[in-house]
Amino acid sequence: MTALVEAEVDGDKLTHDEIAAFFVLLSVAGNDTTRHTTSHALRALTLNPDQRALLPEHLPTAVEEFVRWATPVLTFRRTATRHVELHGQRIGEGEKVVLFYHSGNRDEDGFADPWRFDVTRDPNHHVGSAAAARTTVSAHRWRACSCARFSASCFPVPDIEGGEPELFKGAAFIHGVKRMPCSFTPTA
Ligand code: HEM
Repeated sequence: MTALVEAEVDGDKLTHDEIAAFFVLLSVAGNDTTRHTTSHALRALTLNPDQRALLPEHLPTAVEEFVRWATPVLTFRRTATRHVELHGQRIGEGEKVVLFYHSGNRDEDGFADPWRFDVTRDPNHHVGSAAAARTTVSAHRWRACSCARFSASCFPVPDIEGGEPELFKGAAFIHGVKRMPCSFTPTA
């Protein structure tokens, strides 16, 4: 936030309202995505104990698979800034397009056995956080966040299990978990 407040381009700084709006965007974007990914991942690890056993040795690749598997952001609508042809489909400048990330993340042309949850999957060119966001602060942030969460919660609570999740109903934007019962043995 300090960097944003202090940023200056050609003598212009962001206004108070712009900074406030961006703060809200960062808070929401960084919150919904990482917590729903954590819930979906815990459920997948519960259903796939063989993958769970591999987790401590494969945390970096596992975190990528969590995002691919969960795809917490389902869609985004963008506007083409130039004419482009994609797989024989012409998209004109100014046309609106929708990206279906959950479809991309189960694409047989991109992933071997896409319906298999595999924490060792490598390479894993998922589009769960989209190409543009992969090199930004957000991508570093969610990777660090997810690694930290799983090292902090899963390893000290090795028997934690995620039950049947109740998903957001009718949601076209966020693949969200409304509630999910969890069980574990408390330590003293
Ligand atoms: C598992 C974690 C995350 C996932 C799956 C995710 C996913 C996405 C996706 C799919 C987009 C749209 C990209 C596009 O097509 O242009 C996006 C944009 C964005 N994300 Fe994330 N994200 C995650 C974490 C975060 C975090 C931690 C932050 C910030 C703290 C963040 C901030 C943003 C911002 C600012 C945008 C741009 C929004 C816009 O252009 O209107 N994201 N993210």
